[in-house]
Amino acid sequence: MVSGSPVRLAALPQKVVETASRVLSSALQGSKPGDATSGLHKHLSPAVAHFSEAIADRGEGSYVYTTDGRRHLDFACGIGVTSTGHCHPKVVKAIQDQAAQFIFAQQNVFLGSKPLAGLLDRLLEIVPDQMTRFMFSNSGSEAVENAVKVARAHTRRNGVIAFENSFHGRTMGAMALTTSKTYYRQNFGPLMPEVYIAPYPYCLHCKVRQASPTGGDWYSVAPNIEPYSHYDARQCCNGPQEALTWLLKQQVTPGEVAAIIVEPIMGEGGFLTPPPNFLKHLRSTCDQHGILLIIDEVQSGVGRTGKWWGHQHLGDVQPDIMTFAKGIASGFPFAGIAAKSHIMENQPPGTLGGTYGAAPLACAAASATIDVIEEEGLLQNATERGLQLVQALLKLSKTYPIIDVRGRGLMVAAEFGNEEGGMTAVAGTASKVTKACAARNLLLLSAGARETVRFLPPLNISADEMEEGIGLFEGALADVFGGTHHVADDHHKRAGS
Ligand SMILES: Cc1ncc(COP(=O)(O)O)c(C=O)c1O
Repeated sequence: MVSGSPVRLAALPQKVVETASRVLSSALQGSKPGDATSGLHKHLSPAVAHFSEAIADRGEGSYVYTTDGRRHLDFACGIGVTSTGHCHPKVVKAIQDQAAQFIFAQQNVFLGSKPLAGLLDRLLEIVPDQMTRFMFSNSGSEAVENAVKVARAHTRRNGVIAFENSFHGRTMGAMALTTSKTYYRQNFGPLMPEVYIAPYPYCLHCKVRQASPTGGDWYSVAPNIEPYSHYDARQCCNGPQEALTWLLKQQVTPGEVAAIIVEPIMGEGGFLTPPPNFLKHLRSTCDQHGILLIIDEVQSGVGRTGKWWGHQHLGDVQPDIMTFAKGIASGFPFAGIAAKSHIMENQPPGTLGGTYGAAPLACAAASATIDVIEEEGLLQNATERGLQLVQALLKLSKTYPIIDVRGRGLMVAAEFGNEEGGMTAVAGTASKVTKACAARNLLLLSAGARETVRFLPPLNISADEMEEGIGLFEGALADVFGGTHHVADDHHKRAGS
């Protein structure tokens, strides 16, 4: 690898070649990590944030090795991407075998490739019944862009309704649908027009629930996680549903809305898990007004939640269009949309596309990923290991200011309150915790504008590895909050546990 670099860089000016070679070689050899990090900082855009200063060397299963000689337990998985762990042998072999056959077969040049045909068979087995047409691209943002284009073209309407706290991507269109943090849009406007933002259920901070004397009875820590679920019994205020009705009366007429786009479990926005009636309500609103329901499964899909698709936890609701990416190909860049046939079948040729869509290597990696998830029972493992994690976090919430544990399967979050028992943590708490985790060689990310950390381990994590991760997390909490910390009782009263 290293010796090949100067050859590929030969066409560049000598100074650039020298600097790049130095950065690459010291990074890869780990001989002078200081040089490597300053070189990378100097030449890479600072606008891409980095969780750590470490330089990735190799990955194996649930672990990542960095050039400074450290081994990290990976509870970030490239933000939910390396679903079968790092370099699963079956995925590696599928990519290697395919690379020897055909690295690239462009989708405008050929009708398809053998790996694409194989993948379609596999996808048809796992996507919701009515999703029988697909269009492939490379990233979640691109999938979202295509979903919106298809919805607009099919309905001949312009409006798109998205939700507060959403993350749908960073490209121009997807960015306009993204509201989880303001810096995703900062200085990048004007945004794509005809986007309307509606509230999404955030039951923990619901003012109606908090004001109700019995509010704690119907929202407890981990309300969404079996066997802790209280959602069926509770008295949801239905505020977000009502707000959507008013949005359609006051801001945009339903006849001008092409699509409602929703994450069935809000990902980057903090792993918010809506009550079961929420998605059904969106479905019936869409049916009533001829609006398409786009369910964004980029983070929650492909077994992450213990079911193939996150929305399958929320009753029998069918999307019109579904997006997927991240975990689908274990880290190989790949994404797509699935849709009901009648929605896509009349789109004129040439109106959708992209150079690298449906690339054979990506299709091979995706088929192998689906095989591994099935053959190794990873939906079941995600459910069981998720429960192991939730039980541990609930225990930790008795000692540390964790005010909510939520999610499904291996898409689990813990939100912090403040140490005096309040529901709003001091800004920076989550980042202190993730940094303390990093110092203990646990890769863990934060999520959302509030102080939340998210756990996204590989779907094939073992019980022992999970135990190790929980131990590291507990150590990090002690580092941040002090080892003998006792959470104010008020937390549990307010959160209802
Ligand atoms: C739900 C959701 N949609 C879309 C995206 C954008 O995907 P990408 O970063 O691959 O463009 C993300 C990324 O985090 C996501 O979580």
